[in-house]
Amino acid sequence: MSDTHLRLGVNIDHVATVRNARGGAYPDPLRAAKLAEEAGADGITAHLREDRRHISDADIDGLMEVLSVPLNFEMAATDEMQKIALRHKPHAVCIVPEKREERTTEGGLEVAREENKLAHFIAPLRDVGCRVSIFIAADRRQIEAAHRIGAEVIELHTGAYCDAHAEGRPNDAARELEALREMSAFAHSLGLEVHAGHGLTYDTVQPVAAFPEVRELNIGHFLIGESIFLGLTPAISEMRRLMDEARA
Ligand code: PXP
Repeated sequence: MSDTHLRLGVNIDHVATVRNARGGAYPDPLRAAKLAEEAGADGITAHLREDRRHISDADIDGLMEVLSVPLNFEMAATDEMQKIALRHKPHAVCIVPEKREERTTEGGLEVAREENKLAHFIAPLRDVGCRVSIFIAADRRQIEAAHRIGAEVIELHTGAYCDAHAEGRPNDAARELEALREMSAFAHSLGLEVHAGHGLTYDTVQPVAAFPEVRELNIGHFLIGESIFLGLTPAISEMRRLMDEARA
């Protein structure tokens, strides 16, 4: 892959959400992950939440066994999750904030306030070879802090941009997009690899995909939703096409 290739990480959490609605084994997130791989996903993302509301420990065991592409393991900065990550040593670990009462990861991590704690938290993960990514808002202070604690990657939270777009607030969407553009360039100038994600859809992906500093997009909910109508393979192929078009 060339250095300019924009990677697509497919987040399979919500296949597990549907499975868990019935408490059985169907639909299987591992099957979705293998299909996503075949459809051109460059990586698979899965978030093992503290309350195990979607992805389970067994899913992570299974993903580590069956995947041919890298696993991006999303997790909160807790001792329990650190132990699991150190046992599996996934290609990438993305540290996200987590609140039990939230429906999804609502904001970015507060790195600046927790610098020491996070620096100690990520050091052993880096030591075993995981690429550590920090999920943050497009905020200079947080990016500088992520850089100081030794993260190699930041993932910019695109939720505010996508929400403004979905809610018909074009001025807010433009402002959020501009912040993402500026902060992608800033993070890149510090030597950080830049990823982005949260809430991206066919309508919102292209302006973000066009930022040359962004190397990876992680997309889940929309793709799993769209696969109800199109099927998973065509849903992913269309996202891939839009990303490539924006990049070209
Ligand atoms: N990136 C991160 C760090 C996330 O927490 C999530 C949601 O789990 C995503 C990307 C994907 O967001 P969505 O499911 O809205 O596409």
